[in-house]
Amino acid sequence: MQPKLNKAVEERMITAAFNALKNSHSPHSKFKVGSAILGLSGKIYQGTNIEFDAFSLTVCAERSALFCGISCGEKVFTAIAIATSSNDFKFPCGLCRQALVEFNPDLKVILITKNKKIKRFILKDIIPNYFKL
Ligand code: THU
Repeated sequence: MQPKLNKAVEERMITAAFNALKNSHSPHSKFKVGSAILGLSGKIYQGTNIEFDAFSLTVCAERSALFCGISCGEKVFTAIAIATSSNDFKFPCGLCRQALVEFNPDLKVILITKNKKIKRFILKDIIPNYFKL
C-alpha cells in the first residue's frame, strides 16, 4: 500500500531532512543540505551532502538519500524533502533531478528553507524531456 503523504508523514520527513543536514560534510562550500526520501514501504531514508578534497567526488544530499533507500532494499519512492542552510529556496541540481526522475517522475518534492518556508511541486515539472533509454 502506498504511504499517504499526510501532514504527519511530511513533518517526519522534514525533521529527518534537518537531522541529515546536521551531518553535512561540507568543509569546502560550507553549504549544508539534508534530504529525506519516502519509500513505498513507508520508511524514510536520510541523506546529506558529502564533499571531498578531490571536488568532483562530491555527492548531493538528494542522491545520498536515494542511495541509502536503494541500499536498504527500497525500490519505489514517492516523496522527497530537501532542507538547506539558506533562507532562499534551493532547487535540486540537474544530476539529482535526473537520478530521481529515473525512479519516479511523479515524485513529490518538498523544499524547506532554513527559516522553514515550504514549497511543494512534482519532480517531472522541473525536468521536462529528461533522458530515458
Ligand atoms: N548540493 C546538494 O546537496 N544538492 C543539490 O541539489 C545541489 C548542491 C550540495 C553539493 C555541495 O556539497 C554543496 O551543495 C554546494 O554545491
